[in-house]
Amino acid sequence: MSNDGVNNSRRRVLTAMTSAVGAVGVVGAAVPFVGSWNPSAKAKAAGAPVEVNISKLAPGEMVTIEWRGKPVYVVRRTAEALASLDEIETRLRDPGSEKSVQPDYAKNEYRSIKKEFLVLLGLCTHLGCAPTYRPEVGAEDLGGAEWLGGFFCRCHGSKFDLAGRVLQGVPAPINLEVPPYKYVSDDVLIIGLDQEA
Ligand code: FES
Repeated sequence: MSNDGVNNSRRRVLTAMTSAVGAVGVVGAAVPFVGSWNPSAKAKAAGAPVEVNISKLAPGEMVTIEWRGKPVYVVRRTAEALASLDEIETRLRDPGSEKSVQPDYAKNEYRSIKKEFLVLLGLCTHLGCAPTYRPEVGAEDLGGAEWLGGFFCRCHGSKFDLAGRVLQGVPAPINLEVPPYKYVSDDVLIIGLDQEA
């Protein structure tokens, strides 16, 4: 009898855990994924590299994919977005990304291998919320004329430019992280593998 009692309460705990996992799964599924990205559950569980086809990404668009359980943002920057990176430099905390985390091949002015495509870990360097992509220049709620486009973290108000570099005067201490990635063709990149030198 007492064993049954233990089993029943254990079953209740397991049921509760399963429900919780189910709820997280639903949230994860709401993230818009690139159509061609479809790794197996086993590959995802192992944290395998993830292939992304960027051929359909229009200038100014961003897509979010999942790698090792984390959101990765891929943005196709416009010519205006690239020009804004110079303009905003004096308002950045770490414009040269000296204290920030990125592979050597992305430690440059654009923080990317090809300047048009930005790849970032979508986790705020303050406390880990997912910043929102806000490319609209002059957005009133983000400072009006001062805002040249970038990423905004709603949790505590951190702002980043269109290379993921943090602005001064916000809680986030360093730039958004650039994960390892490589191109296997002009249209396909792989998140989680390093570009060879
Ligand atoms: S987690 Fe982004 S500002 Fe705090």
